[in-house]
Order: sequence, then structure tokens, then C-alpha cells
Amino acid sequence: MKGKVLKLLKESGNEFVSGQRISEELGVSRTAIWKYINIIKEDGYEVEAISRKGYRIISSPDILTFEEIKDYLSTEYIGKNLIYCDSIGSTNSKAKELAEGGEQHGTVILSEEQTQGRGRLGRNWVSPKYKGIWMSIILRPNIITENISQITLLGAAAVQKAIMKMGIKTSIKWPNDIVLNSRKVCGILTEMSGEIDHINYLIMGIGINVNLDEKDIPMDLKDVATSLFAESGKHIDRKILIANVLNSFEELYSAFVRNGNIKETIGICRKNSILIGKEIQLINRGKITTVKAIDISDTGELVIENAQGMIEHIVSGEVSIRGIYGYGQ
Ligand code: BTN
Repeated sequence: MKGKVLKLLKESGNEFVSGQRISEELGVSRTAIWKYINIIKEDGYEVEAISRKGYRIISSPDILTFEEIKDYLSTEYIGKNLIYCDSIGSTNSKAKELAEGGEQHGTVILSEEQTQGRGRLGRNWVSPKYKGIWMSIILRPNIITENISQITLLGAAAVQKAIMKMGIKTSIKWPNDIVLNSRKVCGILTEMSGEIDHINYLIMGIGINVNLDEKDIPMDLKDVATSLFAESGKHIDRKILIANVLNSFEELYSAFVRNGNIKETIGICRKNSILIGKEIQLINRGKITTVKAIDISDTGELVIENAQGMIEHIVSGEVSIRGIYGYGQ
């Protein structure tokens, strides 16, 4: 009911909504309305109440509920079912649990903080409250398992596009990091359940360091991680950024699963690649080799020239590059 009262107030924008109207439309007593208004205030909304006029919202809190982001969202199915948490262990773990229970394609699980955020290779992911975007998207694509690494690229391209729209120029470190001034501002953790020829579901976990201050970044990560705010000095509107990510993601994802079209994604990854033309270290199954990154192929593989001068296509793997994340400095 609190959500319905809030919706009514938000829909009226600057206009007052009378207690009588709320009472009639929602079938609740005046006393109950007063109670809900107080809960709404506790959530961080500033509500003006004037007798004989009613209520109106003066300002909204910086939170990522569906109610707050829906005005910026233009998707058909991604994020239309948004599960909002104030605090959680890991949105990826929660998404998995929900996907196992049949939760629908496109559902987004989002939390204002994660107490056990997970990164790739078993690392932790620092996720302080109200400072970032910590979310997981449940996907049920009808594609062959082989093409899964392309889905991660869709995520990276969507985040890159979304951040650029906010006026900040980041780069993509293939396959799934977004980098700003040589340090990481976003990581993607894609996990799946399925068999060789069938994907049951995919969880795309996206972590974006948005408004973290220097002090929010642990000492041992200072060389590796930063935030959009720390680098640009601009406080970023998380509602707009998350909507931009989901809007771009749906566009790129739909083109890929409906028509196998990954052109725009590859274009974004190529144009903003931090690797192309550089000498890099490729870490694959514990083996480290120094190679040169040449290109990103039309199907999303990293094209490299090995020490013997041979061209190879790399489908997945970890990459280090001199000067990035403190490596080799
Ligand atoms: C990486 O190591 O680069 C991947 C980081 C992924 C972090 C995100 S935050 C939301 C989602 N939930 C998690 O526990 N991890 C991912």
C-alpha cells in the first residue's frame, strides 16, 4: 500500500494530492494515509503536507527502487520486474536462487549494498551502501553455450555506452572490465546453469563504482579500483545511470538473440578498447604468455599475435596490461 500511495504522489509531480482522493482511490482511511506518509518520509522522501490541500513530494532520496528509476527506463522486459534490497550478501547469489525457482527472464535483483559481493576468480567485490550499482540480471537466452562469452561483451558494451551518456569517457578492457584513468570502475561476473547444448539460465552480475569516495576504496585496492566520482569529481545520478545501462543492454541483447546481430556491441568494444595495439599478458588456465593485442573479431574474440608471430583468436581469459591496475608500474 505504501507503494501505491507513493505512486499516486509521484504521478502528481508538483501538484498536491488531497487526502480524500488518496482515500477514495486506494480505499484506505485518512489515519492509514497518515501512517503511510510517515513511512514514506522514513524512506527519505521529503513530503509537504498542507491542510485542505493534501500532500506532495518535495524531494526524493537517492535510492534505486523501481518507483525511482522507472521514469528513465524505456525497456520492454529488462528490469520491468525489479527486486530491490536494502542490503544483501550478493545479488548474483540471490539471482541464482530465484532463477532456480523459475524467476522470469529479464528480472533484475538490485541491492544498495552487498556484504559478500563476489568478483571473478573468487575475489571479493567491495559494495558500499548507496555508492554504486550492484545488480544482477536473470537471462534465459535461447542460444548455444558456445556463445555465452558474447553475452558478457553485451554487458560491457551496455555499461560503456551508459557511462559515456553521462559524459565520462571510460574504456573497455576485454572482455568485461570498464576502466577509467587506468583503474577499474566496473566489473561483470557472468554465471550460468545449463548443459553443453542448453542454457538453463544466465546471471549477469554488474558492479559499477559510481559515487565511492577515496575512503570507500580499501587500501589494497587503490592501485586497481576507482569510481566515476573519484575520477570525474562529478556526483553521478545513479537512477539515470542504471536506467541507461538497462536500456542499452536490452537494445544490444535483443539484437543479438533475435537476429544474431552483435555488430553494435563489437563496434563499441573495439572503438573503446584499452588493449588493441598493446603488448599484454594473457593468463589462461594458469599459463602466462606475452602477446600483442591486434583487434576484437566480429564475433567478440580477442585477436592476438603470439611470440612466434602467429595470429590467434582468444575466446575467454584474463588479461594484464602494463600500466593498468598497477601492473608493471
Ligand atoms: C569482477 O571481478 O570484475 C566482477 C565483479 C562483479 C561484481 C558484481 S556486483 C553485483 C553482482 N553481485 C555480485 O556478487 N557480484 C556482481
